[in-house]
Amino acid sequence: QILILDFGGQYSQLIARRVREAKVYSTILPYDVDIAKIKELNPEGIIFSGGPKSVTLEDAPKIDKEIFELGIPILGICYGMQLMAKLLAGGVVEKAEYGEYGKARLNIIDNQGIYEDIEDSQVWMSHGDHVKEVPDGFVIAARTEVTPVAAMSNYEKGLYGVQFHPEVVHTIYGKEILHNFLFRVCGVSGDWNMADFINEELRTIKAKVGSDRVISGLSGGVDSAVASAMVHKAIGDQLTCIFVDHGLLRKGEAEQVKRTFAEEFNMSLVYVDARERFLKKLAGVKEPEEKRKIIGSEFIRVFEEEAAKLGDARYLVQGTLYSDVIESGGSDSAATIKSHHNVGGLPEDIEFELIEPLRDLFKDEVRKIGEVLGLPDDIVWRQPFPGPGLAIRIIGTVEEEKLEILREADAIIQEEIKEAGLYKEIWQSFAVLPEIRSVGVMGDERTYGYPIVFRAVTSDDAMTADWARLPYELMERIANRIVNEVKSINRVVYDITSKPPGTIEWE
Ligand code: XMP
Repeated sequence: QILILDFGGQYSQLIARRVREAKVYSTILPYDVDIAKIKELNPEGIIFSGGPKSVTLEDAPKIDKEIFELGIPILGICYGMQLMAKLLAGGVVEKAEYGEYGKARLNIIDNQGIYEDIEDSQVWMSHGDHVKEVPDGFVIAARTEVTPVAAMSNYEKGLYGVQFHPEVVHTIYGKEILHNFLFRVCGVSGDWNMADFINEELRTIKAKVGSDRVISGLSGGVDSAVASAMVHKAIGDQLTCIFVDHGLLRKGEAEQVKRTFAEEFNMSLVYVDARERFLKKLAGVKEPEEKRKIIGSEFIRVFEEEAAKLGDARYLVQGTLYSDVIESGGSDSAATIKSHHNVGGLPEDIEFELIEPLRDLFKDEVRKIGEVLGLPDDIVWRQPFPGPGLAIRIIGTVEEEKLEILREADAIIQEEIKEAGLYKEIWQSFAVLPEIRSVGVMGDERTYGYPIVFRAVTSDDAMTADWARLPYELMERIANRIVNEVKSINRVVYDITSKPPGTIEWE
């Protein structure tokens, strides 16, 4: 296995992901882990991540120098390289006259070790300090226009430092450089896969839980589904899933959750029919933020009540992904555009210890695990769906009759987008029901009905989005079907606003 020591860099998880993609098992540990623990793990290679501090500062994260004497190859990335230079005899790090941020051209001086078969090309830089003198036994392996020591290597000891970031896609040969480190320098085999990852996780969960009881909240989304299925595989009936149906789900969604988890997976599932309760709370409420807050706090209340009925559970499963971890850490100063609520996202003071089996993973990796665990495509590949559900896609007050209309229109969109083979490609496609009516004509009769707003967007991460350029024939079919099949709808409009300035949802 490969050990990644985390010095607080932005990309530590991305490094781990690249190692996993190379089919090599990796563990991330904080930089201040005891050296005895590292010896015990006895990894085949170690990677030092980048970090936000300057190594020249007194309180900069450090590591026991003994690590360089273990005979284990080490790759130091950015801060990791500077730390190596600072700790080893002869190395000097200083503040650079010019920082280097973004693209740079790497000029390789010495093609051995991790640079075998690598050509001069673009790399990604992000640093204010640089190595001035390489430590004894090292050679300067590469430079860029502004950085004379962009990489340094000690072939005898298998120690490598790179000032650039091989883990990001903007470094053209990044993957190959990492592979050279893993396979040529460390000599790992590359036969690890997702099934191994799952088995490892299962062992960890079992060991942590022992004979205690565990609960989890299912929402119908892929994250909570995969996390729960995994924990169930580890501890079977010690897990009870709670599925709160707030009545704001799409057509067939609640049934599917019940069918998949209770019947196919044979999991112990508590289905909570809270539909009326939520509708009552939402009665007469128009203001989007107020709707969101009501749903968020009501959800927590219902969940806590149900959990209390189960009594003695000690652990709670959360489908937290790596991106959630970053977002919740990084957005403190961001303005509140909308108060997001995660169904399954519970308050911090909840009295459970958390089990978060997906915490280190990226969404596409979670989907792979879902597939390996045998979850149905409809769950594994489901497009993102907001916690407050259809309530924020009905402009104005939320009533059962409007929910029915929206569910039918939405189901047609989902069906047609899937039929056209575009479901995975499009980030989200859905219907919105605004609080207006317009005049139309059907069968020589005047109609006075609601429009459906059809919205489909492409996006990588929901931070920005663009409206999807769908084929006209598909749009036409969707519009025709909605007007013909959904009562009270006499018009369909397509939203061609990007984000920003729009948001993906309408509320
Ligand atoms: P907006 O509308 O802000 O949405 O562009 C960005 C992404 O977040 C989803 N969304 C939510 N997800 N709880 C969630 O779990 C929420 O309260 C919530 N509100 C919006 C939205 O569907 C889109 O993918």
